[in-house]
Amino acid sequence: MSRVYNFSAGPAVLPEQVLKELAEEMMDYRGCGMSVMEMSHRSPEFQQIIDEAEQDLRDLMNIPDNYKVLFLQGGASQQFAMIPMNLMKNGVADYIVTGQWAKKAYQEAQKYGKVNKIASSEDKTFSYIPDCSNLDISPDADYVYICENNTIYGTKFKTLPNTKGKTLVADVSSCFLSEPVDVSKYGIIYGGVQKNIGPAGMVIVIIREDLITGDVLPGTPTMLTYKTHADAGSLYNTPNAYCIYVCGKVFKWLKSMGGLEEMKRRNEEKAKILYDFLDESKLFKGTVEPESRSLMNVPFVTGDKDLDAKFVTEAKAAGFVNLKGHRTVGGMRASIYNAMPKEGVEALVAFMKKFEEENA
Ligand SMILES: Cc1ncc(COP(=O)(O)O)c(C=O)c1O
Repeated sequence: MSRVYNFSAGPAVLPEQVLKELAEEMMDYRGCGMSVMEMSHRSPEFQQIIDEAEQDLRDLMNIPDNYKVLFLQGGASQQFAMIPMNLMKNGVADYIVTGQWAKKAYQEAQKYGKVNKIASSEDKTFSYIPDCSNLDISPDADYVYICENNTIYGTKFKTLPNTKGKTLVADVSSCFLSEPVDVSKYGIIYGGVQKNIGPAGMVIVIIREDLITGDVLPGTPTMLTYKTHADAGSLYNTPNAYCIYVCGKVFKWLKSMGGLEEMKRRNEEKAKILYDFLDESKLFKGTVEPESRSLMNVPFVTGDKDLDAKFVTEAKAAGFVNLKGHRTVGGMRASIYNAMPKEGVEALVAFMKKFEEENA
């Protein structure tokens, strides 16, 4: 068996220990004589899996009792519509546009009401997080929306925007469980799990109970109404059962590693290794303003497209895969999620040093 260092932005690297457990339980999940893939979602065994997954996530994130945890399908992108359909009571929302994913959410919401772009960093190719301490929040806004970690551009909100009392909604797809968060500051925290938690095909929505009214925009499908899933414990229809099971294993792995404080420490340590190198390198340079740098997604360039391509090819041959930057930005991007070991980042930096010497 040979494993590569996978720097993909998502679907992404998973903890090896979790992969091994999945393999061990594949043919016979704990004496059931079948895998979790083949199991009824109404069985007691699966009920235990989903209950434990929810409880472990609640423990990890310290989720207050007045928040529901929903395991939904449709990925993070489905939330771009589901959020306005469920939350736009006044038909107004404010969006902070810091990258492609925030922009997609902003554009989708326009189908459902009056949507204001109250801040943006598009003027500098989304390479920074704008000052959000005193924005022009609309008096009748139903919510203020952010994408907290911008996967493509590698920026992260270090302080949450001052929403002036309005409900904050955050897409945390690419920073989910990477550090502790104060859930009570948000109305909704949601993220696709395929980056920092599990396989693709599921989104976790952590939503304050008073936002689950069932009073949704006319025409909202039953499946896109939060209340449907909240009332049914995420089992209104057949859920992505195997994905819930894998996520549950990752939650247990995170707990065994010391929880989110420890993940933060590790993630800061790993990111520092890479950023320190980028800051001193004569060939490679980071593309993000230092104060806005993400701990999870690190974009960088050489400044020469051909050299970028050469680097990506040679890195792949050396076992460092998925380093090509997003198709809209070019260059390189190393995603260093929770499951990427420190040794992977150290090895990448050593490889970059060697490449720099050879291509000086
Ligand atoms: C921040 C962010 N939001 C949303 C998405 C879209 O997620 P999905 O493919 O699950 O719809 C992605 C990535 O793919 C992302 O990085």
